[in-house]
Amino acid sequence: MNTTPARERVLSGHRPTGLLHLGHLVGALSNWIELQSAYDCYYTVVDWHALTTHYRDPSGIQESIRETIVDWVAAGLDPDRSTLFVQSHVKEHAEMHLLFSMIVPLGWLERVPTYKEQQQQLADKDLSTYGFLGYPVLQAADIVLYDARFVPVGEDQIPHLELTREIVRRFNHFYGTVLVEPAAKTTTVARLPGTDGRKMSKSYDNTINLSDSPEAIREKYRTMMTDPARKRRSDPGDPSVCPVFDHHRAFTPEARRAGIDRDCRSAAIGCIDCKADVAARVIERLAPIRQRREELMHHPERIDQILKAGADRARVVAAGTMKRVRKSMGLSEAAGR
Ligand code: TRP
Ligand code: SF4
Repeated sequence: MNTTPARERVLSGHRPTGLLHLGHLVGALSNWIELQSAYDCYYTVVDWHALTTHYRDPSGIQESIRETIVDWVAAGLDPDRSTLFVQSHVKEHAEMHLLFSMIVPLGWLERVPTYKEQQQQLADKDLSTYGFLGYPVLQAADIVLYDARFVPVGEDQIPHLELTREIVRRFNHFYGTVLVEPAAKTTTVARLPGTDGRKMSKSYDNTINLSDSPEAIREKYRTMMTDPARKRRSDPGDPSVCPVFDHHRAFTPEARRAGIDRDCRSAAIGCIDCKADVAARVIERLAPIRQRREELMHHPERIDQILKAGADRARVVAAGTMKRVRKSMGLSEAAGR
């Protein structure tokens, strides 16, 4: 099989954290969907990364993996064009991670800003483990196995990408130019607040999910936070401090949005109508996604097929890279392989 990439490769990963929400859709996901037309895309659900924080109770991971895949495909990641797979289905990720662990200086990992931050944020968990320190090493392995040139990620992942590049340079310095140095591909998207005005996140319980029913969506917007200074219907509002208006920015066409901006400032429109307007747009945007979701949920065997085909394709590429890697490091192949 010819595994020479005709198009440049893109890889990105997502931890299985459950149902995807609007923050994912307007952030990473729509970007990933667009990249499919120009790149050979690999998108992986990183279940081993989930274990770095959920090792005590991994019981929810399997379900979360399937929810992620369903949401991905329903939203428009096309399993025929892109390779969608589960990290742990491709054992080469573990081997590459192990080999990297030999050459990565401890100091590099301790200096990664997310390391101490996350330990503090998730203080209820004991994250003083070997695996948690090695989180970005595993991420580097994910990327290099596919010779990925570009890695679409949010700003928060830049330190991990920088570390990946340093690991690749160190590896290539020791063993010859074997690995491709990846670049982060960041797209600046306005962050989408949740219903309480904070960043939309499952842990804040403020999400609007791709799987939410129209009734649930209307209800969530109905109770969503607005400009806190606008107490009465007759008070003028300020869209620039209103989380609902951030949703208009994401889902409402420019001309109509300008009208809402003006009418909010003059109190010509009330929050009830403004929210009903954005709710209707989100419901319309999600309708085809919800429909494809329902179909997939009724055909679990289709999800299995997607994951099998994805892992099979990913394995071919990953195995090719590992051959190169072992050879460069002077490791022998098992007989008959
Ligand atoms: N650390 C990434 C995140 O939390 C997830 C991830 C794992 C990833 N492996 C990756 C992202 C490889 C890009 C490439 O979002
Ligand atoms: Fe926010 Fe809309 Fe109310 Fe203005 S009218 S404060 S934009 S919800």
